[in-house]
Amino acid sequence: MLEELQLNHEYDVTITKQDHFGQGLVKVNNMLVFVKNALPEEVCKIEIMDIKKAFATARIGKMIVASKFRVEPNCPYYAVCGGCHIMHEEYSKQLEFKEQKIKELLERFAGLKDVCFYPIVGDKPFYYRNKVVFHGKENQLGFYQEKTNHLVPVKTCVITEKPLNKIYHEIQKFLLEHPSNTIEHLMIRKTSLHQILVDIEGTITLTELLPYLEEATTIYCNHQLVKGNPFVEESILGIQFKIYPSSFFQVNYEMMLVLYRIIMNFYQNKEYHKVLDLYCGTGTIGILVSSYVEQVIGVEKESASIIAANSCKDINRISNITFIEGKVEDQIDSFQDVDSIIVDPPRSGLDHHTLEIILNLQPATITYISCDPVTLARDLKTLVADYEVLEVHPVDMFPNTYHVETVVFLERK
Ligand SMILES: C[S@@+](CC[C@H](N)C(=O)[O-])C[C@H]1O[C@@H](n2cnc3c(N)ncnc32)[C@H](O)[C@@H]1O
Repeated sequence: MLEELQLNHEYDVTITKQDHFGQGLVKVNNMLVFVKNALPEEVCKIEIMDIKKAFATARIGKMIVASKFRVEPNCPYYAVCGGCHIMHEEYSKQLEFKEQKIKELLERFAGLKDVCFYPIVGDKPFYYRNKVVFHGKENQLGFYQEKTNHLVPVKTCVITEKPLNKIYHEIQKFLLEHPSNTIEHLMIRKTSLHQILVDIEGTITLTELLPYLEEATTIYCNHQLVKGNPFVEESILGIQFKIYPSSFFQVNYEMMLVLYRIIMNFYQNKEYHKVLDLYCGTGTIGILVSSYVEQVIGVEKESASIIAANSCKDINRISNITFIEGKVEDQIDSFQDVDSIIVDPPRSGLDHHTLEIILNLQPATITYISCDPVTLARDLKTLVADYEVLEVHPVDMFPNTYHVETVVFLERK
């Protein structure tokens, strides 16, 4: 009979693998234990922090033999911030972890084995984010610890682009020099055209703030536009886009280009009449694909994104795309004679009704872009009844975190 696991006790273990959130996994006395920040093959003493019915959580008490892939995290807040999850792992190994995670989930939940799986594309693990959101409390700015509203004050974020950090430093200086001002929420976004949008909320004297933000092209303060155009401009593969504060837009420019090129290549030689771009955001994918097909219809629930999508259509003189504002699940029944459907849903994936109607519409191909391989695998399980997976392309949109973007092309059997 195995001894029961004891809370706060230390155990000598060798970590067997990483779970899908990047944590170390090991079995102790027949109980599955998730060990924070441990890497496969590490020999360590672990301290049990919590015991549930089917698993326990632990932290490393003492490292005995560290993985050769362990690196010193390049951020003083890594242990407390929670925004990054695997910064302690060498980047090439992070990529391997993400590839393996997608393969495992597709096999386990969708029964997909031996599919055409492209090597993951990843580059530049630091200073890649072109959008960042900070929170504030009593003159301090920082990030909320994951899943809490506990503020972790930070001076710099090493996964955020340097020009955004520069603006952030200026805002910290402003708070220090004008302590009667307070900031509750701060969003900064930069485009590849070097336009910077600052969206700030709090108790702020504008005449005191504005001299610190000379480099920003667009500033909103408490939802009022106080400088520049109401949007910033972005250029993607020769097409101009407008981004408003609440528009969805990918946060890693280089990897976004990789992702969009993969999708464009797929549509290049197809002779499609009608393509749906569901969850289209500012219409980026539909617009990029519109030059290869007769007609595209985009569906998106956020009105600011639809405004941006329509204005992109006008600026670029694109006539074969239409955008519908509404929820996909409410609009999906109104379509027929569709050749291909592109879906790029939020992490929750596709709802049951949308999946059912997609199958009823019987498009020749489906392109599924996913930021969560768990819901991707769940939805593919339904789609593979009628569709064959042609290609899987992982893209590392979010280095140093466990998140990964995947594009899957499916063809009707
Ligand atoms: C992952 S983003 C994709 C955006 C776009 N395809 C792109 O590449 O920029 C998901 C988008 O789906 C939208 N969305 C979320 N739930 C929705 C729903 N039920 N119906 C329509 N749009 C939805 C969000 O507002 C967001 O713009």
